[in-house]
Amino acid sequence: MIINKHPIGFFDSGVGGTSIWKEVISLLPNENSIYLSDSKNAPYGEKSKTQIINLCIKNTEFLLKENCKLIVVACNTATTNAIDFLREKYSVPFIGIEPAIKPAALTTKTNTIGILATKGTLHSSLFEKTSSSFRKNIYIEEIVGKGLVELIEDGKLHSKEMTILLKSYLTPLLKKNIDALVLGCTHYPYLIPQIREIVGNKINIIDSGEAVARQTKAILTKFQLLNATENIAKHTLYINKSKVVLKQLILETEHTKIIQKKF
Ligand code: SIN
Repeated sequence: MIINKHPIGFFDSGVGGTSIWKEVISLLPNENSIYLSDSKNAPYGEKSKTQIINLCIKNTEFLLKENCKLIVVACNTATTNAIDFLREKYSVPFIGIEPAIKPAALTTKTNTIGILATKGTLHSSLFEKTSSSFRKNIYIEEIVGKGLVELIEDGKLHSKEMTILLKSYLTPLLKKNIDALVLGCTHYPYLIPQIREIVGNKINIIDSGEAVARQTKAILTKFQLLNATENIAKHTLYINKSKVVLKQLILETEHTKIIQKKF
């Protein structure tokens, strides 16, 4: 039986999905949560669809054993490759992350937007399906951010290597006259300061965090699963590699614990 005070589950190929987790727990401060950082298997973006689905099954089963009442697939690559499968196989509600093309398409003045995402996301049939309806009216310039997730997972967020790689991806997009840049990977919001340095102030940088938090609230409300008790929320973040990088992104407190664990 699903109980309202049960936690919301999150999983990602690594530490990046905490960009989504932060938005959700900030909008829903009563909710307990469990986050899985599958850093041992990062990145998912270069893996086959079958490999990604198998990793998503492993993560989902872990979260279901912890009695999660809803699961946020806090990874674009996992969402675009596995969410249909997960929804078919399990009865718990799943929230997925898709690149926020719509707000970019609605606000572009140059009729051209850029999207930075993994190969796994950009080559998925779900991305192809959702982006094709916008392509009638605007140009979508895609670029694979190969190597960015690995650098973040290695704790090289503010490194020279990161700047060089970002410049090599963003300079060609800027030449295409984009005025909005969609971040299609949940690791990338941590790169916004560096991206802003390169693209300047005229480009609208869009990620999915707030929209996902609103959607999570809407689904919990719909299924009457919101935790309405006066709860001091507890958060447990499990990681199957060293805790060091996750500790740089998350403030550990009495109620927010980071635990290294095999899964
Ligand atoms: C990856 O693991 O390659 C990236 C995760 C994402 O797409 O959000």
